[in-house]
Amino acid sequence: MKMRVDRWLTTLGICSRSEAKELIRRGAVRVNGIPVRDAGLSAETETDVLSVRGQDVDGRTVRHVMLNKPAGLLTAARDRKQPTVMDLLPPCYAGMGCMPVGRLDRDTTGLLLLTCDGEMNHRLLSPGRHVEKEYEARVTGRLTDAEIRAFADGLELSDFTAMPARLRILEAGGETSLARVTVAEGKFHQIKRMFAATGHEVLTLHRRRFGPLELDPGLAGGAWRELTEEELSALRAAAGMAPRSGGNPEPEARGAAEGPPGSEGKEK
Ligand code: URA
Repeated sequence: MKMRVDRWLTTLGICSRSEAKELIRRGAVRVNGIPVRDAGLSAETETDVLSVRGQDVDGRTVRHVMLNKPAGLLTAARDRKQPTVMDLLPPCYAGMGCMPVGRLDRDTTGLLLLTCDGEMNHRLLSPGRHVEKEYEARVTGRLTDAEIRAFADGLELSDFTAMPARLRILEAGGETSLARVTVAEGKFHQIKRMFAATGHEVLTLHRRRFGPLELDPGLAGGAWRELTEEELSALRAAAGMAPRSGGNPEPEARGAAEGPPGSEGKEK
């Protein structure tokens, strides 16, 4: 991304605009090893090498984050009253325009992606793209084959018919059961509503996977890290975007290449 050097420094949270001008005046800021003399000079934030007071700085302003969301935080870019997932990241991530990709309910835990790439965010959530999400849910009551079939058939909810979903029962107890659910859409309270439609209340909900990315088991609740290059490439592919070296993105309204989860062996 092209950006003025003084703005680059403030976007990265290194200093204020006036401090940036002062650092530049003192010759303390270099781009590709060359001292910057003009604060208005444009740099390429993803590829130019920035150093401040002799120290190289990670200058990328298009960041992509994997977060293990803890319960109790809103999934929102900001909220005037309540804590949000953005509170877990350094403030410069909000300054760089990093936003959650979709939403998890306040009491849902697990994999939440955040990205500064608005186009990728939009594409990953596009209803026509059917990016899979996998959840682990503890629910009231005993889950049986009847629920597996109901999920696979596509549950009728009050305002829409859910796409076929995959339900795998991990534990079926008298009081509660544990299951993995894979869906290819992301409607409001979708998993809770699907279980409610089969007579089960969700007690805990944890997202394990979003598209090609699994939650890093090394991330404790509330911890985060940036995506690796491989993860980012896989996510871009899931969004129908070309590898970063070039090529043309697929058209936005492309349908899924494969059927939705639960539709295996069914006619399309
Ligand atoms: N479905 C839900 O019901 N809640 C979530 O947070 C995510 C999916």
